Amino acid sequence: MSLCIDQRVNNINMRLILKKFPPSITALMLQCAAVVLMLALAEFTGLHDSPLLFALLCGLLAAAFSFFAGLAKWWLLIQLIFVPALVLMLAVELPPGFFLGAFLVLLLVYWSTFRTQVPLYLSSNKVWHAIEHLLPAAATDSGFTFMDLGSGLGGVLTHLAKFRPDGLYVGVEAAPLPFLWSWLRIRLGGYRNCRVRWGSLWDCDLSHYDIVFAYLSPVPMENLWRKARAEMRPGTLFVSSTFAVPDQSPHETMQIDDLHRSTLLIWRM
Ligand SMILES: C[S@@+](CC[C@H](N)C(=O)[O-])C[C@H]1O[C@@H](n2cnc3c(N)ncnc32)[C@H](O)[C@@H]1O
Repeated sequence: MSLCIDQRVNNINMRLILKKFPPSITALMLQCAAVVLMLALAEFTGLHDSPLLFALLCGLLAAAFSFFAGLAKWWLLIQLIFVPALVLMLAVELPPGFFLGAFLVLLLVYWSTFRTQVPLYLSSNKVWHAIEHLLPAAATDSGFTFMDLGSGLGGVLTHLAKFRPDGLYVGVEAAPLPFLWSWLRIRLGGYRNCRVRWGSLWDCDLSHYDIVFAYLSPVPMENLWRKARAEMRPGTLFVSSTFAVPDQSPHETMQIDDLHRSTLLIWRM
């Protein structure tokens, strides 16, 4: 009985320690632990002779570790197939430059995702059209300002800039390749009322904008809400696509009939 309780306490302690790291680092540590353990086992069992079996067992062990460490379900699948995929890819004997090239492209697209936990995925056209309805009514004398936090390939910005040329559309994007893509898209498309900056959304002053749009992930929402509350002017709009703010009910929601069943959550500040 007391052994059982001790084990549970150890499990909880281990989870708390692992929670201090981003999931990608935890996954890497668990994967390494599984490989080291399997290498030690292989000394006695002769598993060295069958690389694929060895890899499959590493994957199973890493997935089991990840399950007990409380990683999300998709990590279990990644952990399961990581070493077997490595063995299969090595068997294909592709030139090493291929792996370096693939790594560099992924690095430039996903950049600091392992830390921010906000990868690149794009809003649908239907979301772009829904945002049209949130823009202020057209006025002849003054325009309005719109910010896309984490602007990806610049689709939201360029669509709105075409639809309502009386606004000023600004984006900030941390990953180099999406930033470059959107910068070229804006330049080559001749959008005079649109601009994008390479940098972190945490360095933007939100007091300059009438509408702030974010399509990120659940991870930054609590801190982003605090930043929006501190900086946005009264009466301006904060719009999050899909991801809620913990303990903050939106003033309005818009359900979008797209592939991801997106929802726009809207707060008037
Ligand atoms: C889900 S995508 C959304 C792209 C675009 N807003 C859209 O709706 O199609 C999120 C983007 O935010 C970027 N991002 C994540 N963290 C960021 C940060 N701290 N500062 C700036 N951009 C960030 C990612 O690189 C990614 O391109």
